[in-house]
Amino acid sequence: MNAEPMAQPRGAWRRAWAAVDERLGLSGLAYPVPTHANGIGYVLGGITFFGFLILAATGIWLAQFYHGSPEAARQSVLYIERVAPLGDIARGVHFWTANIVMATVLLHLGRIFATGSYKRPREANWLIGVGLLATTLGMMFTGTVIKWDQEAYEALGHAEEAGGLLGALGFWFSGEFAATLPLLGRLYIAHIMILPTLGTLLLVAHFLLVKRHGISSRPAEADAALAGGPAPNPGGSTFSAHGIRMVGFGLVILAVSIALTLIWPPTLGPPPVPGEEVTKPPWMFLPIYPFEDWFGLDALLWVPVILFAGLVAVPFVDRSPFRSPRRRRALIAVGLFVAAALVFLGVLAAFTTPQTHLTGR
Ligand code: HEM
Repeated sequence: MNAEPMAQPRGAWRRAWAAVDERLGLSGLAYPVPTHANGIGYVLGGITFFGFLILAATGIWLAQFYHGSPEAARQSVLYIERVAPLGDIARGVHFWTANIVMATVLLHLGRIFATGSYKRPREANWLIGVGLLATTLGMMFTGTVIKWDQEAYEALGHAEEAGGLLGALGFWFSGEFAATLPLLGRLYIAHIMILPTLGTLLLVAHFLLVKRHGISSRPAEADAALAGGPAPNPGGSTFSAHGIRMVGFGLVILAVSIALTLIWPPTLGPPPVPGEEVTKPPWMFLPIYPFEDWFGLDALLWVPVILFAGLVAVPFVDRSPFRSPRRRRALIAVGLFVAAALVFLGVLAAFTTPQTHLTGR
């Protein structure tokens, strides 16, 4: 009998991989990246991206049961918590991952700032990043409103009055803009469609520019090269290795979110009572709260405008080619001062009694 030798599994795997690779070009992902790109500081953007994927998956599930009308919204959240299959887990993981993503975005921004990675030729990518930060905050705000409890209702009241302060520019927040759809419904559309679309477009541009410029070299190496030293090594590792680390850290976020959901499931406050102001905003908005106490609701507009203008200005103010923090002492001191002040104001707000800011205008 003419017995064919059995194909070895290793060979079979290799052939299968070659067939897939021929069609999808996966081995092209093994392009060189510097070794330091695998350090945690340089994976924070990737971890944030993985967090967005978790938010998209859990958000799609939540959207199957959520109802974005003022009459039914809160009840549908209760339904998600108590009846919908895996609803409580999906809501909890969505909530906790959103908070973790907010923290990783800020840490990512802090790393870029500390290492001067916004400098030429990466100024445009810094500005796109500022847009991504605004989009993430917009997602947090709209997400807070659509659960439609007392905290949500007060947040919406603030948005409406802030919109009113903008005059004609704030038309989107007024009831007259779309008499057929309450503002809650439009904020829900912003949460699931407008902001995710905008965020995706910005992310695509962000990633294309990271690919185009490569990851910035270490500040000390970049400064040494400016002084005539050797050019920094652009290789040492591969993007596939970087991607594997990103997925690894991303899975840790998922595990932490599941654990937090089981220990501290997100709460749902009482049904909204018009005219009452008894809640405070989530932690990322808390630093603005004391300004509202001191200067009134107008602060809701000008404090974020000043902060974002400051972020936009960074690459235009810091024009020197040097990237080491030691050679950028003044700007680093300003950055540390602003960060410390925001933390201090947030803690202050957490310990003060809620005050009335809405004027009923
Ligand atoms: C909101 C979601 C964001 C995501 C998902 C994201 C993702 C990423 C990723 C994956 C990288 C590659 C390397 C790394 O992880 O450090 C990166 C690099 C970069 N990001 Fe972001 N980013 C976001 C927000 C921001 C923000 C808020 C800023 C600054 C205002 C920013 C500015 C930059 C710059 C300048 C680079 C190039 C850094 C370098 O070459 O060292 N990004 N981002």
